[in-house]
Amino acid sequence: MTRSDFTTPEEVNEVYRRRARFYDWSVNAYYLIGFRWWAYRRRAIAALGLQPGATIVEIGCGTGLNFRLLRESIGPSGRLIGVDLSTDILEQARQRIAANGWSNIELVHARGAEYDFPSSVDAVFSTFALSLEPRFDEVIAKAAMALMAGGRFVLLDLRMPDNWLHNLAPVLVWLVRPFAVSLEVAKRQPWKSLQRYFPQYSYQEGYLGLVYIAIGQMNRLTR
Ligand SMILES: C[S@@+](CC[C@H](N)C(=O)[O-])C[C@H]1O[C@@H](n2cnc3c(N)ncnc32)[C@H](O)[C@@H]1O
Repeated sequence: MTRSDFTTPEEVNEVYRRRARFYDWSVNAYYLIGFRWWAYRRRAIAALGLQPGATIVEIGCGTGLNFRLLRESIGPSGRLIGVDLSTDILEQARQRIAANGWSNIELVHARGAEYDFPSSVDAVFSTFALSLEPRFDEVIAKAAMALMAGGRFVLLDLRMPDNWLHNLAPVLVWLVRPFAVSLEVAKRQPWKSLQRYFPQYSYQEGYLGLVYIAIGQMNRLTR
């Protein structure tokens, strides 16, 4: 495996160390080629079904692009924990939190697979990040153990489509190489773990199967 394959957390960390300051700008640049990420972020956040006061963990939170919308859903009494591998990315997130005066967001420097979820988590969220963790299956298994009855794990990510676009794999991967996606990363299928560990599961796709939202939910308690 060569270094440019970006498959290990160390390689991913190095990519984000270099990109941290320009991350928000580069995400928005994809609008120029028609990817309207915000519509998917909003849809994924709505799928979390958050209530005011909820505790939510975001794995691979990046610079905190989701924080404002998540915070609007959980309100000032809720708790948001952002977990990320990269200290440089987390510094950008810290600046966003400070600039907005948000007091109920904690940042944790950890690799997803090494993170121990607190007890009583209402929701787990991850956008464009979990496929970068080779041990994504462990993350999902641990999240399922930590979630309360009725709790949800919502995953928004890119995937290699099953259709004719598959033939364009090298081009598709090249488009997202700035975010440490490699052919090897594109083969990962975290939504299948979600399906395995959660008793309730739903899945939707967009952009010809390039992007998906997968939702796992724990059963509610019955009286
Ligand atoms: C494409 S960015 C997405 C950031 C944010 N979720 C968003 O939607 O803007 C991927 C993020 O995942 C983080 N990341 C990658 N691998 C990780 C891992 N194994 N554990 C925790 N974070 C990871 C990176 O540092 C980066 O901030």
